[in-house]
Amino acid sequence: MRVNMAVTANAGFLPTRGSWMLDFVVVAMVAVVILLSLSIGLVRYRHQYLWHKRIQVTLGVVLLLAVTAFEVDMRFVTDWRALAEPSPYYSSDSWSPVWIALLIHLAFALPTTLLWIAVIVTGLRRFPHPPAPGPHSSAHRLWGRIAAIGMWGTAITGWGFYYLAFVAAG
Ligand code: HEM
Repeated sequence: MRVNMAVTANAGFLPTRGSWMLDFVVVAMVAVVILLSLSIGLVRYRHQYLWHKRIQVTLGVVLLLAVTAFEVDMRFVTDWRALAEPSPYYSSDSWSPVWIALLIHLAFALPTTLLWIAVIVTGLRRFPHPPAPGPHSSAHRLWGRIAAIGMWGTAITGWGFYYLAFVAAG
């Protein structure tokens, strides 16, 4: 039996071609989306400002650590292009759906990262302790909604990229 060491060394836990880190991020984003929706529901319908703050700051810190680990893995450990090679939607030397999906995903992920840092830092600085509505509310509601939409978009486009690159088979 022929074993491809490059692939087995990175083997993930989902029945796909994804590496461990890719699989982890794909599953973790389900939890992020659920917790984010819960946190916004808590502040919007129950006025649970402190729980909203706790969940958002925790999500922010965990996401920052996960993104750093993911970047290191993608740059130095996992050759995702080799894992995407069997996909009918991937081509290494020309534009293909996988590259377009990656571009759309990055168009959500990069601005969303910066926006989350800004929304969390200004929230911590401008809301009182413990958190409650105040002069910062209207700006925070606007940018908080955009930041949340950005994170949902990041998750959905990330799952799309993962499917095209590491699930689809020719
Ligand atoms: C990226 C992180 C965050 C996001 C995406 C976010 C998102 C939101 C959204 C969408 C709302 C409006 C809900 C609605 O009524 O429709 C909201 C309200 C609120 N958030 Fe955040 N938030 C974040 C971080 C924080 C932090 C760190 C704090 C506290 C230090 C905070 C405190 C509040 C408060 C007090 C309100 C209620 C404002 C009001 O209705 O007057 N948020 N947030």
